[in-house]
Amino acid sequence: MPYLSPALNVMIAAARKAARPLTRDFGELENLQVSHKGPADFVSSADERTERILFEELTRARPGYGFFGEEGGMREGPDKSHRFIIDPIDGTTNFLHGVPHFAISIALEREGQLQSAVVYNPITDEMYVAERSHGAYLNDKRLRVSTRKNLPESLIATGIPFMGRGTDEERERSLAEVKAVVSRTSGIRRFGSAALDCAYVAAGRFDAFWERGLNAWDIAGGILLVREAGGVVSNLNGTSDPFSNGDLLAANEALHPQLMKLLENPFS
Ligand code: IPD
Repeated sequence: MPYLSPALNVMIAAARKAARPLTRDFGELENLQVSHKGPADFVSSADERTERILFEELTRARPGYGFFGEEGGMREGPDKSHRFIIDPIDGTTNFLHGVPHFAISIALEREGQLQSAVVYNPITDEMYVAERSHGAYLNDKRLRVSTRKNLPESLIATGIPFMGRGTDEERERSLAEVKAVVSRTSGIRRFGSAALDCAYVAAGRFDAFWERGLNAWDIAGGILLVREAGGVVSNLNGTSDPFSNGDLLAANEALHPQLMKLLENPFS
């Protein structure tokens, strides 16, 4: 059984409450009010409502904490040592296309350190949770990253910048990275939710995941899941936290340095 701190219990309850209308909307996609935020970057009324419910539930239980959400940005609270980092729907494009692969992601930071995490796919009812120093779980099952040590037998997830994301140069680099990795591994998956990509690394389904230019809300929950499942998470030169520039590499201990080397110069 997972260790559920009082804060983690609050986060799980908030995710379940926000997930109910989201699941209904997913079943009636054609009725959703969809508005454009930028090229290929849609924000639905479901996204905004999900964040509102999470905000209401979390601030009711922890009134002083800060709240950093994809939709509403940073809302400071009087308690400067705690903040929630929220992605109401990670995998928005999947959601809008009726692909059942998206998640609510909630992380709690204490004194700048990730303390608790929830990544919840309401369609599959997979609830990933982690508490610092207490491990990561999928529903009631303890998670461990994979034990594969060699690239040829490994399955790797990534994210590729799409229209409206990244420069031409960044897109070219990303495609060169894909080419370098795909030709040396069992294959690549691009599933469209960074939070679930990390959760799948924690569960040992994927052996590794990398993506550049992510936002804190996409990855905060996933980073703690991977670390608590025994994995390594860094940015792509391994020297600092992925929050510093949004570049992230998550893998088991054996594959992390091998992938970092491969991604260092994908054009070679
Ligand atoms: C996106 C997803 C996607 C990744 C994008 C993210 P969103 O988050 O995590 O997998 O490739 O970079 O922005 O916009 O659906 O919350």
